[in-house]
Amino acid sequence: MTQESAVPATDIDLTRPSAARVYDYYLGGAHNFAVDREMAEQAISLWPELPMIMQANRAFLRRAVRFCIDAGVRQFLDLGSGIPTVGNVHEVARQAASDARVVYVDSDPIAAAYSKNILGSDPQTAVVQADLRRPEQVLGSPDVRSLLNFDEPIAVMMVAVLHFVSESDGPAAIIASYRDAIVPGSFLVLSHASQEGQPDKAESHRDLYRRTPTPMTMRSKSAVADLFTGFELVDPGVVFLPLWRPVSVEDVDEHPERLAGLAAVGRKR
Ligand SMILES: C[S@@+](CC[C@H](N)C(=O)[O-])C[C@H]1O[C@@H](n2cnc3c(N)ncnc32)[C@H](O)[C@@H]1O
Repeated sequence: MTQESAVPATDIDLTRPSAARVYDYYLGGAHNFAVDREMAEQAISLWPELPMIMQANRAFLRRAVRFCIDAGVRQFLDLGSGIPTVGNVHEVARQAASDARVVYVDSDPIAAAYSKNILGSDPQTAVVQADLRRPEQVLGSPDVRSLLNFDEPIAVMMVAVLHFVSESDGPAAIIASYRDAIVPGSFLVLSHASQEGQPDKAESHRDLYRRTPTPMTMRSKSAVADLFTGFELVDPGVVFLPLWRPVSVEDVDEHPERLAGLAAVGRKR
């Protein structure tokens, strides 16, 4: 880690791994600590495909952003955005539409601080450190209100984050709050860890995340589909990551079930 001073030391818990920093390690990033690397290595030894799953998740995110841009969307609210890595939402969106605007939201102080560092004073992006489980705080944030126009379609992204929202948190009500704030023609972009595909490995993976402040809740295909209440699922519906509208040979996998994450996009009715 090279720029610890970017984050107030009191906000960083070095005794426990963080989901954001462990994910950064899987993706080959440098914004992680020994405690994160140790957990990531243990997870990879139990489930060697994990880095591939994370890459497949990032590839889905990029395809979904392009899909939304092609559908005319120019605004993105990226919830649980993580530590910025190459191919982030604003980069992908702006390659296709230079006027695209993105608000990144993450509860992790490191993720938020590095996002701010990287984006600087870019007027088309903003970073908010907030908990997506508090939609009123996210939606009421001055940065969200000033950058996004809620009279125009918005893509709400919940990519690889809802498995950190338990049933007792009430994911349906949380999503409903975001859905009610956006106009018809907006999108929900979602990927999710699942026990489908590789049930044995998913179980031990979930156990490891009990060490972090954000334990995991795996969901089935039908439970993920249920999260799209009020949205119309676009083709091909809820599928394993590589099967969501692959565009290149790199996107395709001979055994998509081993890249066990689920992906889907829905259009608000
Ligand atoms: C696996 S990373 C996914 C990052 C990015 N969305 C992607 O798919 O590449 C999950 C991120 O969600 C964040 N997160 C977990 N629970 C959250 C919550 N309740 N509110 C906001 N962010 C959260 C974590 O800090 C982490 O950065």
